[in-house]
Formats: sequence, C-alpha cells, structure tokens
Amino acid sequence: MMNLTRMALAVTLLATVVGCAGINRLRYLGDPTVSPKTLAVAVCASCHGVDGNTTSARFPRLAGQTKDYLLNQMVAFQGRAGMQLSAKRLWGMAGGLTNLDARRMLRVADGLTTDQMRGLADYYSKQSPTPNPIDSGDVPRLEPGRAIYQTGNTRLAVVACQTCHGPAAHGSGPLPRLASQHSGYTVAQLVAFQGGQRGGPAGVAMKQSIAQLTREQMNEVALFLQSLP
Ligand code: HEC
Ligand code: HEC
Repeated sequence: MMNLTRMALAVTLLATVVGCAGINRLRYLGDPTVSPKTLAVAVCASCHGVDGNTTSARFPRLAGQTKDYLLNQMVAFQGRAGMQLSAKRLWGMAGGLTNLDARRMLRVADGLTTDQMRGLADYYSKQSPTPNPIDSGDVPRLEPGRAIYQTGNTRLAVVACQTCHGPAAHGSGPLPRLASQHSGYTVAQLVAFQGGQRGGPAGVAMKQSIAQLTREQMNEVALFLQSLP
C-alpha cells in the first residue's frame, strides 16, 4: 500500500516536472508529419504563447524574432539536456541548469528534427510582435537606457548596441531582435554573457561589447528595449 502511494506520488511529481508541455503532446516531437504551426500550438505555446507573444516574463518572446537567430538557438540547445546539475556553464541558457523552465526547453529542443526547427523558426519570425508596456514607475529610466542603446559608453568601453542590433532593435540574420522583449529576460541574458554562462562562438562579440556594463545600466537598457515596438 505504502509503495503504491509512493508510486502515485512519483507519477505526480513526474507530471509536474514535465509541466505545461504535457506528456502526450511531446509525442509530436520528431514526427515529421506534424506541421510547425501544430507543434507551436501544442508544444511551445504553453510557455512562449501561441504566436510567440507570451505575457509571462518567465519566458522569452519569440514573435518577430529573426529566423536565423531562432534556428541558431534551437540548434545550440540540442544535446544539452543531459548535463549535470553541477555543471557551471550552459551555453545559451541564462538561468543555468538549476532553472527548471530552461531544462524543459532543452528536453523539447532535443526532440526536434532539423526540418521542424527550420519550420518553427520560420513560423515565429512571421508572427507580429505585440506591445509589451513597462510599469509607469520605470518611465524615468527609459532615457538613460536609450543613451546606452544608441551611443554606448566610452568610459566603460560599452559598444552602442544599435551597431549590431539595428536602430529599431529589430535585429537581422544572426543578430537577434531585442525590441519588446521582457526586460527581466534581457537582463538575465546580459548577466549570463558577462559571467560566461552564455557564450559559444556566436556570443564572443556580444560578450566583449558589454564586458563592463553595470547592473543598473543593464536594467535601463532592458526597460528601454521592452518599450520599443
Ligand atoms: C516549459 C517551457 C518551454 C517550452 C514548452 C518551450 N520553451 Fe523555448 N524557452 C523556454 C525558456 C525558459 C527559454 C529561455 C532559456 C534561457 O535562456 O534561460 C526558452 C528559450 C527559447 C528560445 C531562445 C529564445 C531567445 O531569444 O534566445 C527559442 C528559439 C525557443 N525557446 C523555442 C522554443 C520552441 C520552438 C518550442 C516548442 C517546440 C519551445 N521553445 C518550447 C521555455 C520553454
Ligand atoms: C558587436 C555586435 C554586438 C553588439 C555591439 C551588441 N550585441 Fe547583443 N548580440 C550580438 C550577437 C551576435 C548576439 C547573438 C549571440 C548568440 O547567437 O548567442 C547577441 C545577443 C544579444 C542578446 C540575447 C538575445 C536573446 O534573445 O537571448 C541580448 C539581450 C543582447 N544581445 C543585448 C545587447 C545589448 C543591450 C547591447 C548593448 C549594450 C548589445 N547587445 C550589443 C551582437 C552584439
């Protein structure tokens, strides 16, 4: 009897770990007959939102993100789900291995075929981003954020972000769109680049450009970016 109770508990725990993705829906992964749209709705939507405009700041927005960057990220996530919790570095993941949401993301990525990743990158790049308003109390921080984005900071050797991410922060090719992204997610990525948890060949230029950006400046530039259409 005791064992049965334990087993039931274990099953419940497992279901909680798999979480919003849902065990049965994960079956779609790797099935080439399932369209990217169906995959997006059945598997990714619970975290990223149906059209990639999630309102939850726990997850990055994907709507209108560049196709190349989306594909690069999904490819980079593959093969990392089995990494040990004690591993200090995790390429491409801000939250590190102790972030359960990030671990789920890695499991999902492992199940995708290359064609599915291409299809999903195409799908999200074609969705229209919706506005992501900031709290009114944060409005005074927009101007300092704009200054960092547009001109950088010579004293701290911070390169103007727009040089790479574009004047409207819409990105292009492998350079990601940053506009309307949740500020918390953006800050987490900046911290991860700076600390070396996020890196890889594609991140070298990014890491060097923000090596001395302060935490306060990160918050300011992230709020400015969230406020952009
Ligand atoms: C359980 C929640 C969850 C599910 C389901 C999920 N993701 Fe994610 N995804 C995340 C989290 C969390 C991150 C951010 C990881 C980090 O860097 O900390 C992320 C990051 C990403 C990124 C990188 C975004 C960026 O701006 O760099 C892409 C691309 C992505 N997911 C695509 C997908 C696709 C496609 C699916 C469905 C096949 C999917 N995700 C399903 C949670 C999820
Ligand atoms: C020299 C070019 C360059 C400059 C300057 C630059 N970046 Fe980047 N940035 C990149 C590249 C390339 C990537 C994608 C790295 C990858 O694929 O992992 C990136 C990625 C990012 C990401 C991760 C996006 C996501 O969805 O996960 C954020 C956030 C970011 N940059 C913010 C900034 C900010 C803020 C500044 C200015 C303070 C800045 N960048 C300056 C090249 C640059």
